[in-house]
Amino acid sequence: MQEPIEPVVAVVVAAGSGTRLGGETPKALRTVAGRSLVARSVAQLAAGGCTAAVVVVAAGMQDAFAADLAASPIPCTVVLGGAERQDSVRHGLDALGAAADLAGCRIVLVHDAARAFVPADVVARVIAAVRAGAPAVVPVVPVVDTIRSLDAAGSAVVDRSALRAVQTPQGFDRAALEEAHARIAAEGVQVTDDAAACEHVGHRVDLVPGSRRSLKVTEPLDLLIAEALAVGE
Ligand code: CTP
Ligand code: MG
Repeated sequence: MQEPIEPVVAVVVAAGSGTRLGGETPKALRTVAGRSLVARSVAQLAAGGCTAAVVVVAAGMQDAFAADLAASPIPCTVVLGGAERQDSVRHGLDALGAAADLAGCRIVLVHDAARAFVPADVVARVIAAVRAGAPAVVPVVPVVDTIRSLDAAGSAVVDRSALRAVQTPQGFDRAALEEAHARIAAEGVQVTDDAAACEHVGHRVDLVPGSRRSLKVTEPLDLLIAEALAVGE
């Protein structure tokens, strides 16, 4: 008999204000070749092995997101976000505890809705590393630009070969991630991402190869690149 598939829940954060992109519509509901960034993200997460999603959205937007996600390939629960990204992630984790069908899940991915073109194989690599025992997993890509670091005396080139740019989805042992978020909330610590939250409480962070296709739609130029990525779908 086949082993049942272990559930993997994706917490998809989509509650930001999209200030740098501009426009009236929430960034995650902006469309590329007719499909929203959030619907694209959920579809890619499902293709890579996620079995359910919790989508975290801004106040007043729950119905709009639920309608947009109605045809998703995996069940989506829409919940309310918070002031900072880390608050939105924590709200998503709280929803896991509250939903009976998600409560037993051990593997959790956290994904920025804005990274709508993440390839399924990146998602699958993240899941596989958590399944193999890593408490926290981050997809990364090499840095292509020459980087200078600034200080009061001037600037100096940084050794790029030692740098990696961090992407999502990041993958976690759920207990490790919940502990990390509870601790940073209690201590009032600001973190840049969820892997950093886990590191703050002493967990190791493993890296897997990400993809240049996983660009985070941040500024208007990124929407043009996203339209190009969608050609030939
Ligand atoms: N996010 C969130 N809750 C917040 C802030 C951000 O869920 N309080 C989400 C965004 O919706 C986005 C992801 O975190 O999917 C990464 O954030 P970013 O790309 O910075 O998006 P925004 O914060 O929406 O954009 P901006 O910083 O330009 O306002
Ligand atoms: Mg932001």
